Amino acid sequence: MNIIKVKNADEGAQKAFEIYQNVIKSGAKVLGLATGSSPIALYDRLSASDLDFSNMTSVNLDEYLGLDGDNDQSYRYFMNQHLFNQKPFKHSYVPDGKSDDHEAAAKAYDQIIAENPIDLQLLGIGRNGHIGFNEPGTSFDSTTHIVDLTQSTIDANARFFEKESDVPTQAISMGIASVMSAKQILLVAYGDTKADAIAATVNGPVSETVPASVLQNHENVTIIVDEAAASKL
Ligand code: GLP
Repeated sequence: MNIIKVKNADEGAQKAFEIYQNVIKSGAKVLGLATGSSPIALYDRLSASDLDFSNMTSVNLDEYLGLDGDNDQSYRYFMNQHLFNQKPFKHSYVPDGKSDDHEAAAKAYDQIIAENPIDLQLLGIGRNGHIGFNEPGTSFDSTTHIVDLTQSTIDANARFFEKESDVPTQAISMGIASVMSAKQILLVAYGDTKADAIAATVNGPVSETVPASVLQNHENVTIIVDEAAASKL
């Protein structure tokens, strides 16, 4: 794992932006994207740049169940706001949270990933070490699946909703095997609430109880952390 320590999220976004410039220059065609507050400064930089995504494909990690793309809490809406409206891709895939048949939607998403092998997968990390919405205990062999969110994740995400009871309790998420199939992975984490998860990811045993620890098994992973998130390394 290549660990890059930065002073703050802004410096982290600049380092991440340079990685995007390089992979795009090297011919990357498919970007795996993530939501959450951690990538926002990077998306701002990508949006303001002269990079052209119109011949590229994006594949997002996850979506809440029950929210359609017009709902301002959906991850599709988040991506439109933070990146796609400014920088359209040829195709931008986000799992379908409003399907009548979730199993079929998960299968269809796996097919999309198979047809669009991910060159660079961006990840944030949950306080409990989740990646995408792959909560602790998720099999490392998992592909796209329906997830019951843990209370810790519901609590952490409640800040984005008017009240906690509005937070969806289920999501559809790319699986851990799908994340690991990306050629390169970039994880960004800022703030002391991520310090335990980062320490367990980097130095802990590789275990399904800390989903992000699987990244130790990937040959091309970069982790960008600020001083607070790196404080327990
Ligand atoms: C959600 C998302 C994750 C994200 C995590 C952390 O649970 N599904 O993909 O990494 O939140 O978000 P933040 O960056 O806001 O801390």
